[in-house]
Amino acid sequence: MKTIIEPFKIKSVEPIRMTTRAERERVLAAAGYNLFLIRADDVLIDFLTDSGTSSMSAEQWAALMRGDEAYAGSRSFFAFEAEVRRITGFKNIIPTHQGRAAEKILFSVLHREGGVYLGNTHFDTTRANIEYLGDTAIDLPIPEALIPAQLHPFKGNLDLDRLALELERHAGRVLGVIVTVTNNSGGGQPVSMANIREASRRAHAAGTRLIIDACRFAENSWFIKQREGGYAGRAILEIAQEIFSYADAATMSAKKDGLANIGGFLACHDDAIAMQARNLLILTEGFPTYGGLAGRDLEAIAQGLREVLEEDYLHYRTRSVEYFCEKLQAAGVPMILPAGGHAVYLDAGAFVDHIPPEQFPGQVLVNEIYLAGGIRGVEIGSVMFGRTDPETGRAIHPPMELVRLAIPRRVYTQSHVDYAAEVIAGVYQRRHELRGLRIVHQAPFLRHFTARFEPI
Ligand code: F0G
Repeated sequence: MKTIIEPFKIKSVEPIRMTTRAERERVLAAAGYNLFLIRADDVLIDFLTDSGTSSMSAEQWAALMRGDEAYAGSRSFFAFEAEVRRITGFKNIIPTHQGRAAEKILFSVLHREGGVYLGNTHFDTTRANIEYLGDTAIDLPIPEALIPAQLHPFKGNLDLDRLALELERHAGRVLGVIVTVTNNSGGGQPVSMANIREASRRAHAAGTRLIIDACRFAENSWFIKQREGGYAGRAILEIAQEIFSYADAATMSAKKDGLANIGGFLACHDDAIAMQARNLLILTEGFPTYGGLAGRDLEAIAQGLREVLEEDYLHYRTRSVEYFCEKLQAAGVPMILPAGGHAVYLDAGAFVDHIPPEQFPGQVLVNEIYLAGGIRGVEIGSVMFGRTDPETGRAIHPPMELVRLAIPRRVYTQSHVDYAAEVIAGVYQRRHELRGLRIVHQAPFLRHFTARFEPI
């Protein structure tokens, strides 16, 4: 069949509040033209993130009732631990309230003076936690990753030649090679098994460790099955197991491929690292058998991890993102290609090429998509990553101006996607009418969350 259907039916629904363009204009102006500052009730279709926004299944809701809220040794912890161990094979499994808590703890344990991490592209919270400790994060994506329209089956790969150079340059100081699957910051693009295997071999040869940032491991495993020679006949579980077999440790936000609304974990083989991590966990998260989560959350994640490995689900999931991408491509909209696993990334720099980076093309586009159709995405460009050179006072812009439309798991149907594609194609038709923005207020760090703008 050409039509890939949602492999579920809907048991419980949440209404969407319809708004008019005039209402949205008032809402956006009152929020200083920043979609982080509006109420979610004023959004029709929320593509802000795929994190913690999944619909849970009937089995997950049922699992909540099985949650054992014992402070220590909860039955739900053992259900969670067994499922994470079945997939990852790690000896030590430590629950955390979300991904960044696992990162904070792992990097605190690994920290050494002048430490360096090398990765395909460190996600913002990963980089921030590394830099907070005084260590350095270096991104080594393959060159294709920086050209939006360039096709490549594994655009999330780590550049292995640069990895070899950097391992040599920082010999003795590399605390880990971090492979993020899929590469979120680079467009939700997958990493090949061959690339993970070779990164692991080189990390170990250089006396360091391989760490997997596993948020979207199931989507990555699906792409390996589809695109990499020798994997077509393998089960998703086996592919995931092989990915983790090359790693010494992993961090995961269960808010993505855990199909849960909260949660995460840190896992590793090394007992000494695990012992120190558990000591820190007790300080900030909680006892090692709940780690900042309720027993019921651990049950929901254990069940979510079983469901996310189902091929019908992964087929529908990746096909619906690709379908969205194809519709936009047919309308001529510039984007990161090929379609990623969890999101569509519009190339705002090309979309509104008459608006210079100083006037925030991504922010202009994200706002117009909201005004036109009540759809919320997120700017990933000069608002999020731009900064001022402290010496020259000049603005420094990131290599790409993007708008990410992240698709929550099992939440929206094909007609929501059709509507979104129609809205964006309409905005593309009128793109020459759009005008730039200037910042009127900003915070010293992570300004995108609270900045206020005005139209030029
Ligand atoms: N690593 C990656 C690759 C992520 O995408 C995220 C979160 C994290 C780590 C941190 O996990 O949010 O549970 O603390 N990404 C979300 C997003 C926020 O919208 O892409 P967390």
